[in-house]
Amino acid sequence: MIKILVSDPLAKEGIEVLKKNPEFSVDVRTGLKPEELLQIIGNYDGLLVRSETKVTNVILSEAKNLKIIGRAGTGVDNIDVKEASKKGIVVMNVPGGNTISAAEHTVSMLLALSRNIPQANASLKKCEWKKKEFVGVEVFGKTVGIIGFGKIGVEVAKRLLSFGTEVLVYDPFVSKERAGQLGVESVSLDELFANSDYITVHTPKTEQTKNLINAETIKKMKDGVRIINCARGGLIDEKALADALKSGKVKGAALDVFEKEPLCESPFFEMNNVIMTPHLGASTEEAQTNVSVEIAKQLIEFFTNGTIRNAVNFPYIPAEILQKMQPYITLSEKLGSFASQFSGGRISSVEIEYSGEVAKYDLSPLTISAVKGVLDPVSETGLLNFINASFIAKEKGIKVTETRIPASLDFTNLINIKLKTETAENVIAGTVFGKNELRIVKINDYYVDVEPTENILIFSNMDKPGVIGKIGALLGKNSINIASMEVGRKTAGSDAITIVNVDSDIPEKVLTEIKNQPEIKNVKMIKL
Ligand code: NAD
Ligand code: MLT
Repeated sequence: MIKILVSDPLAKEGIEVLKKNPEFSVDVRTGLKPEELLQIIGNYDGLLVRSETKVTNVILSEAKNLKIIGRAGTGVDNIDVKEASKKGIVVMNVPGGNTISAAEHTVSMLLALSRNIPQANASLKKCEWKKKEFVGVEVFGKTVGIIGFGKIGVEVAKRLLSFGTEVLVYDPFVSKERAGQLGVESVSLDELFANSDYITVHTPKTEQTKNLINAETIKKMKDGVRIINCARGGLIDEKALADALKSGKVKGAALDVFEKEPLCESPFFEMNNVIMTPHLGASTEEAQTNVSVEIAKQLIEFFTNGTIRNAVNFPYIPAEILQKMQPYITLSEKLGSFASQFSGGRISSVEIEYSGEVAKYDLSPLTISAVKGVLDPVSETGLLNFINASFIAKEKGIKVTETRIPASLDFTNLINIKLKTETAENVIAGTVFGKNELRIVKINDYYVDVEPTENILIFSNMDKPGVIGKIGALLGKNSINIASMEVGRKTAGSDAITIVNVDSDIPEKVLTEIKNQPEIKNVKMIKL
């Protein structure tokens, strides 16, 4: 039974999708205190959250069985993704499931701020009729600066353009051409600050975006600017904003998200020019159903067929591409493992080159597989997986590089792994023939044609009559069946490398006997 904990309120439609699956046992336990979550997290294979549950490294330290954390929403800043990755736990979200709701909320907040709607509503309900006090401003003809032009930023821009505003955007990952196509102008952050009547932030919270709006950047803004944050608490330094609101430098602010949530104490509570909502950007029936159903489906796919969709700590590959890439993924892992076992010793770097057909794909899953292959033989069983392989390599100080090189003349596709240890450097290359025929085609300077099967014996030998027969007889005497044998040599009579695919493991005693043959050296048993 796969045990899932749902620790934040998720729309019932998603829970039903999970519960329909008889292999899942689902516990919905919302509002848990951190110490309560810590007590029970060890029992679960999957955890589903929104933004309330804080999945800290302390919680993860007890999450002994956890394989996946699903975030019903976009932001994963309530999850220690780095720690989860180290532990090999997949973290996935639902990007886009609440984009429209968040964009509509942003525009509602901007309009409400411009026309004092919340304040006027509250006043009228006290039997007041203060037409003069609530005179607002039009957004028509104003300049709106959007920081972060991703999914939500784009939808906000589209809506604001229809009001006759000029839209400036700042996003280091969006080209001027893309901005131009969408009818907005891409500018520097300073230009955006200097020219905007409204500034709305739509970036994730990262080390670079934390306190993006602070006392210094507020100084660069137009006097009387209005600021909106429906993205993440912490993008704005709240103290600096409160000071600027008091001084009048900032005319008004509309905030949906806060440094600390839930919020029950704030200088903004006393300020009439600040309107606030309790993190409602994604709180629509449509968005909540979308993200809840979608994350439930992603979780089921993960547990039933291993598909990793929308993971923030693993590259996403659409199913049809994954199918085409699968032989290369398997080959990379096997080549990495072969190189690692063949070399032995402390690994310092892994250089992977891709050429031909394989180089047209996203290389990251291939490189991750190669690195996993390299680490597998030196890792404790069960601790390594595709999620934590790169982290573990980094922790061990192994430098990993990947390069696309022009197509090789001899092969339609080629993966070449150069593995350096403190004492040696070995190159192993492989290719995929036809649809799914994996082959090792080069071991250092020797061209070979070897199937990467489960048990491979490899050794260097003098190229002279009788050596191969002697090993064959020795294996036969010990009931070890040879599936195929390949000798790689540069010229007749020079040193050769012999690779023997055997049908079973070779016991240590037999390996020692082989090692004791005078014509043979560097004997290795490789398990793939
Ligand atoms: P997205 O990933 O599609 O877009 C984010 C954009 O920010 C990207 O284009 C990225 O290039 C840009 N960016 C990153 N660093 C930047 C920087 N230093 N300066 C400028 N731009 C930078 O994400 P999205 O779905 O549009 O979500 C945007 C934000 O809204 C996220 O923080 C998300 O968590 C939040 N969100 C809030 C609610 C809510 O309920 N209030 C709902 C949904 C999403
Ligand atoms: C999100 O990042 O998706 C939002 O914070 C929405 C939410 O879960 O409340």
